[in-house]
Amino acid sequence: MGHIILTGDRPTGRLHLGHLVGSISQRVELQNSGEYEQIFIEIADAQATTDNSGNIQKVKDNVIEVALDYLSCGIDPSKSTIFLQSEVPELSDLTFYYMNLVTLARLQRNPTVKQEIVYRGFESSIPVGFMTYPISQAADITAFNADIVPVGDDQLPMIEQTREIVRTFNRLYGETLVLPQAVLPKNESCQRLPGTDGQAKMSKSIGNCIYLADSPEEVTRKVMSMYTDPNHLKVDDPGKTEGNPVFVYLDAFCKQKHFEQYFKNSQTGELEYNDLDELKAHYERGGLGDMKIKKFLNYVLQDTLTPIRAKRRELENHISEVYQILFNGSDKARKVASETLARVKQAIGLNYRTDFELINSQVEKYNELHEMSEKKTKSR
Ligand code: TRP
Repeated sequence: MGHIILTGDRPTGRLHLGHLVGSISQRVELQNSGEYEQIFIEIADAQATTDNSGNIQKVKDNVIEVALDYLSCGIDPSKSTIFLQSEVPELSDLTFYYMNLVTLARLQRNPTVKQEIVYRGFESSIPVGFMTYPISQAADITAFNADIVPVGDDQLPMIEQTREIVRTFNRLYGETLVLPQAVLPKNESCQRLPGTDGQAKMSKSIGNCIYLADSPEEVTRKVMSMYTDPNHLKVDDPGKTEGNPVFVYLDAFCKQKHFEQYFKNSQTGELEYNDLDELKAHYERGGLGDMKIKKFLNYVLQDTLTPIRAKRRELENHISEVYQILFNGSDKARKVASETLARVKQAIGLNYRTDFELINSQVEKYNELHEMSEKKTKSR
């Protein structure tokens, strides 16, 4: 049997460049590699409610945004199953049984959840649903027998939690669940794209993102006002490229063709820079201005985003069909998840309808009991 992939996103906003390099591109590559038996992509709307219980409309509105972003980036519903978490209620059932296998202390150690709690100001009153979402994520992964989970590095604690649940479950109830493995993007710059303001992470709540659906003008404006190296004041000053968001983005997005298209001298045909290493070297020794590197980055990003934007524009005329894709995917996902749930309940022993041994033994028990009491009455 080939590999099964599962991954997902919370629909709480449009997808941005961090998602594109961190996960979407990788999914499209995996999907088109044909080396996988099945790919499931979950729009985790139920998980998104765990910290948006007062704003379900936001979650609902973003489902279609995320679906449009997926499809416009090349996720192909004939190859990948895109589904809605809330359409697969079996996932909640699995979560319920997995909850017994995890301690509260263990949940409290999850570094991503810890950070999110601070971000959301939940310190004094954490919703139980939010605290336990890593367990529900274990249900998402195991329900589909996924062995490969392509994610960004912030999701590693969830995969670790899932692996623990799988091991505990299999030890207690017998070999039932598949042990999954996280797969990070190969290019390190892709693992966590900094914000345009130089902060560690692109995050919609900080407003330092470039969205896949941004207009060309918005992209240009955001690139031109990007944070660079604060000590690179004059063009001639030596500059830092490490951790400099412009160069991190170039690392993540620029391809050889961009050097050939952008840095070619029209008279001599020679390239001003042959590759990113040469561009970086020039910036580091001084003499290369921020304006020039930003213009190049803008060129690279526009080249990357133009086809995505065009595809999105086209899909926006077919919104009902996009919802239908989600419903069909959810039907397919539900079939698989209910098979897993049946196996899980059978392993635990909560399979009354098929447990004839149980029923017979109860019948026998009561027969014997009645026989005994009848004997007693007769002997009196
Ligand atoms: N927690 C993920 C996020 O915040 C979304 C998600 C839900 C997910 N279920 C998943 C990711 C299963 C990978 C596998 O984006």
